[in-house]
Amino acid sequence: MKKIALALTAVLGLAASGAQAQNYPTRPITMIVPFAAGGPTDVVARIVTDHMSRTLGQQIVIENVAGAGGTTGITRAAQSQPDGYTIMMGHMGTHGAAPALYPNLRYDPTKDFAPIGLAAGTPILIVARKDFPAKDLKGFLDHMKANGDKVNMAHAGVGSVSHSTGILFNSIIGAKPTMVAYRGTGPALNDLMANTVDYMTDQIVNVAPQIQGGNIKAYAIATPERSPALPDVPTTKEAGLGDYQVSAWNAVFAPKGTPPDVVAKLNDALVKALSDENTRKRLQDLGGVIPAPEERTPESLQKLVESEVARWTPVLQAAGAKAE
Ligand code: MLT
Repeated sequence: MKKIALALTAVLGLAASGAQAQNYPTRPITMIVPFAAGGPTDVVARIVTDHMSRTLGQQIVIENVAGAGGTTGITRAAQSQPDGYTIMMGHMGTHGAAPALYPNLRYDPTKDFAPIGLAAGTPILIVARKDFPAKDLKGFLDHMKANGDKVNMAHAGVGSVSHSTGILFNSIIGAKPTMVAYRGTGPALNDLMANTVDYMTDQIVNVAPQIQGGNIKAYAIATPERSPALPDVPTTKEAGLGDYQVSAWNAVFAPKGTPPDVVAKLNDALVKALSDENTRKRLQDLGGVIPAPEERTPESLQKLVESEVARWTPVLQAAGAKAE
């Protein structure tokens, strides 16, 4: 008798979760952004969720949970109920570089998530405060050679994109600046514009408007081609530092165990957002790179995460990054 009851419970449970997934979403969804409001991760999240919420018919509420280079927010999201009502915006830092820098990281980027899809590619730029005493990258490198220990570099916490791409940059140019951590590169950019921090390597969607406005200096973009959003900013190759080639990405994840129907609905909403002209324009005007159609699947994102973790671990160890 007990066995029949157990079997019945299991079947009813499955049926209930199936029905839940079928009717999903029936209430607002929370997207955890693991950095302060106003930074690149937040900007990409708000642009894509604006359209996703229309497709899903429910509001997507952004919750900024900053700290520890984004790993605080991602840990919370990874441990949330896998019901589709808590998702997250991760990126090359939280789901690529972090394992190399946090030996006790409380999640495995390759195992503890249900990937939803890639949201945007975000090229990296070397930017400095407006009155930094170098007019081009060569001048910047000369200045760093002579005064590197007196210069400070902003980043969004160990393991963040700005930190890992900054560590790589500093190791290539042989610089040892003072590293100044922020809860996101939104606040870091404010200090760059206030001339209270010297430089950083950051994602184009954060710094493009301030470069276009002449409020900060951009020495180079670390991609093979210039960005259409910043046609006057030379590539690192053109500026004489071709070895520094790096681009980041932002992607939507749900916790492991999220029902496949829910994953499919979230992916469908993201793909529709990336096909929407206005959403594409908002991302591209900021220099964001729209993923190609074949890059928008959950499977493609899983492969990207696996390759990024494998890529960044030796790079950061070789660059002498210290694990936390
Ligand atoms: C980073 O990893 O640097 C973050 O993207 C910064 C941010 O989003 O604020």
